[in-house]
Amino acid sequence: MLLALALLAGVGLDSASSAERCGACHRAIHEAWKSSAHARAMESRLFQDALERAEADLGAGMRKTCLACHAPLAALTGDLTLQKKVNWEGVTCDYCHSMKEVVWEGANPRARLELGLVKTGPLKESSPVSHGATFSSVHTTSEVCAPCHEYRNALGLNVLSTYSEWKASPQAKAGKQCQTCHMSRVAGDVVDPRIKASTGSKINLHQMPGSHSLDQLNSTVRANLSTERENGKLKVTISVANISAGHFVPTGSPLRKIVLELRADSYDGKRFREERVYGRTVVDAAGDPLSREHMVFVKGAKIASDTRLAPEEKRVETFYFDVPPGVQTQLNATLWYYFSPMATAEAQKRITFRTISRLAR
Ligand code: HEC
Ligand code: HEC
Ligand code: HEC
Ligand code: HEC
Ligand code: HEC
Repeated sequence: MLLALALLAGVGLDSASSAERCGACHRAIHEAWKSSAHARAMESRLFQDALERAEADLGAGMRKTCLACHAPLAALTGDLTLQKKVNWEGVTCDYCHSMKEVVWEGANPRARLELGLVKTGPLKESSPVSHGATFSSVHTTSEVCAPCHEYRNALGLNVLSTYSEWKASPQAKAGKQCQTCHMSRVAGDVVDPRIKASTGSKINLHQMPGSHSLDQLNSTVRANLSTERENGKLKVTISVANISAGHFVPTGSPLRKIVLELRADSYDGKRFREERVYGRTVVDAAGDPLSREHMVFVKGAKIASDTRLAPEEKRVETFYFDVPPGVQTQLNATLWYYFSPMATAEAQKRITFRTISRLAR
């Protein structure tokens, strides 16, 4: 017992610990987490710019609101000026693995945490050497994600609705959790083999790829293009489908969009460009559209339009071009994902994930 206590004290995992410490033993998981959006949730320039604007436009009290999800341990421990390194780590290990339960009362789901020597997780029979561990059923279901991926503001707008979208999806009914798609089982050691003999087991991918992953986007959003002649015009049909996401596409921030752009260049010199947008328009109480994340969060009162693709939805788009029979037309369809109007660098703003080129006559 004394020895065990000494060991525990020696590693110093009693209050909120930095991911670096966890990474000393959970090496593979730490590596994957480091390249996740969660690890950058506070550090990200995009978030910091938005936070600055929020404080300037809506008051200093905003800081605590925003940090509650982007640097949850900072909000929880009251370190709003981020004196401690761990609080720069965004959605870090010790936040998720100190979670005991998710409480569903009031407007929003809330996580109950116990920071300390006992880490909660999905393993039923784990034998950690330096900290205690208890099995937690919450970690094996979508509930663990709900406190940050579901949010209703004071005006009653469901700003983030990924959890409820999932809850109503066919995928949820089939038993798929957020983890099924975002934390797939990959080869790796739970603990560095130098610390504990490898069991050749698997780990849950902590990178949690989402819309910044071309693989995720390409495997989810499918598009097919076909052409025919109709009433003297060239008719182009593109079907766009959300084949496998367990929620709308796009989900998350209401400012995310997917754009389908079709260019048609006919050999007799005509140029056409058309687009379809899959996204939401959020308006404030006066009905004016909002275009900044912090304003959407706080001032958003209503979703004025929602053209996103529901789970398993296939949308057929038709386009007519005034091109005479026998004239060839070069068609280029592009699908791109648009992240945020506050982004400054192009790669932060959007990503092209699918292109289809076809010569039609
Ligand atoms: C000195 C090495 C060491 C350090 C440091 C360490 N762990 Fe562990 N941890 C282990 C070992 C060993 C296991 C048991 C693995 C097993 O039995 O397969 C474990 C298991 C776990 C589990 C699984 C618990 C369960 O029941 O599902 C979680 C979660 C966990 N650690 C989180 C953390 C977090 C968070 C930190 C940092 C705050 C951390 N660990 C730091 C060695 C360490
Ligand atoms: C403490 C709050 C919190 C919890 C808990 C949380 N997330 Fe997140 N998540 C965030 C924030 C904040 C972002 C946005 C980070 C950014 O881009 O600044 C995010 C982003 C994401 C993304 C987007 C990645 C991308 O490429 O854009 C995915 C996917 C995701 N989370 C999945 C999950 C899943 C799955 C769970 C549950 C296992 C979960 N999250 C739990 C706060 C959280
Ligand atoms: C957004 C929340 C979240 C963050 C951040 C997070 N984890 Fe996890 N972790 C989970 C969930 C959820 C599971 C269980 C997934 C399942 O079983 O479906 C898990 C599983 C684990 C396990 C058990 C082995 C495994 O792979 O299933 C360990 C150990 C672990 N995490 C350590 C860490 C460490 C170390 C960090 C930081 C480098 C970290 N986690 C960051 C949510 C998180
Ligand atoms: C059946 C698989 C599946 C399930 C279940 C699922 N997702 Fe996703 N998710 C995806 C795919 C594929 C993408 C990439 C396409 C996209 O960005 O919309 C994605 C994208 C995301 C994004 C990126 C943000 C954005 O704006 O598109 C977030 C955040 C996210 N998921 C969170 C969650 C959470 C939280 C849950 C559980 C409540 C969940 N997902 C359940 C497959 C799934
Ligand atoms: C309830 C949790 C929660 C709160 C509170 C919250 N956010 Fe977020 N935020 C998220 C999640 C989750 C995402 C990622 C959604 C996605 O991937 O589409 C996100 C994404 C963002 C993004 C886009 C980041 C990117 O990489 O594209 C910005 C900017 C942002 N939030 C700013 C803020 C500001 C400013 C506040 C305070 C007014 C705030 N957030 C409050 C959960 C939250």
